[in-house]
Amino acid sequence: MEDVELLKKNAGIAACKFVKNNMKVGLGTGSTVKHTVIELGRMIKEEGLEIVGVPTSLATEKLALEVGIPLVELSDVDCLDIVIDGADEFDPEFQLIKGGGAALLREKIVAQESKAMVVVADERKRVSKLGAFPLPIEITPFAYQSTIRKLTNLLDCRVNCRMSGDNPVITDNGNLIADAHCGPSIEEPKKVENDILMIAGVVQVGLFNDMCDAVILAGNNGVEEIINPNGRL
Ligand code: A5P
Repeated sequence: MEDVELLKKNAGIAACKFVKNNMKVGLGTGSTVKHTVIELGRMIKEEGLEIVGVPTSLATEKLALEVGIPLVELSDVDCLDIVIDGADEFDPEFQLIKGGGAALLREKIVAQESKAMVVVADERKRVSKLGAFPLPIEITPFAYQSTIRKLTNLLDCRVNCRMSGDNPVITDNGNLIADAHCGPSIEEPKKVENDILMIAGVVQVGLFNDMCDAVILAGNNGVEEIINPNGRL
C-alpha cells in the first residue's frame, strides 16, 4: 500500500471512535472515508455495533450495503448524530473545500442535518488559505455555459466544466460540476459561498463553512485529532 493510502486508512479508521451504538450516521464520499465505511461494517459484524447510515452518494451507498451497514433515507429520520466525511482542503478556521468526488450537494445536505461533522484527511489537505484545490460548484445542465461565464466574472479566475474524457461529469443528481481555479486566495469563504449561491444556475458550492467540528488528520507521525474549539464536539 502506498504511503498516502496508508494515511487515508489510518484517518478513516481512527474516526470510528466517534460512532456509538444506536447512532444515525452520515456516510461521506471519497477515498479516505471509504475506510471509515469499511471499518464500521467490520464493527457491526464483529463487535455488534448497532447503527444506521445515510450515504452521501450512490458509490457510498453501494459500499455501505456491501459491508453490511443498514441504511435509511434522510427524509425518514429527524436528524443524524454525526457525519464523517473527507475534504479536499481545510483551513485553520475549520472551513472546507469539498466536492473533488462530485458528491458535494448530497454531502452538504447530510452535513446540514447532522449534529456534528468529523472530517477525515491526510496532511496534504491542511492549508493556510483555501483555494489551491479548484473549487467544485454543482450547476444545472440548462444554460451551463452562461452559468460558467457568470462564475468566471464573479471569481475572476478560470472556471472549467469538469470532464471525464470527452464527456462532462454528471453528478448523482443529474447536474454538472464547474471547477473554479481561484488559487490559494479565498479570504472570505462565507462571502464567496453566498455570492456564488446568488447565481441562478448554481445548485450548490463546495465551500463548507462553519460545519466541521473536528478533523482526524493522518500524517507520517501518526493520527492527530484536531477539535474545533467553536464546534459541537
Ligand atoms: C466528494 O465529493 C468529496 O467531497 C470528498 O469528500 C473529498 O474530495 C475528499 O476525497 P478524498 O478522501 O478521496 O480525497
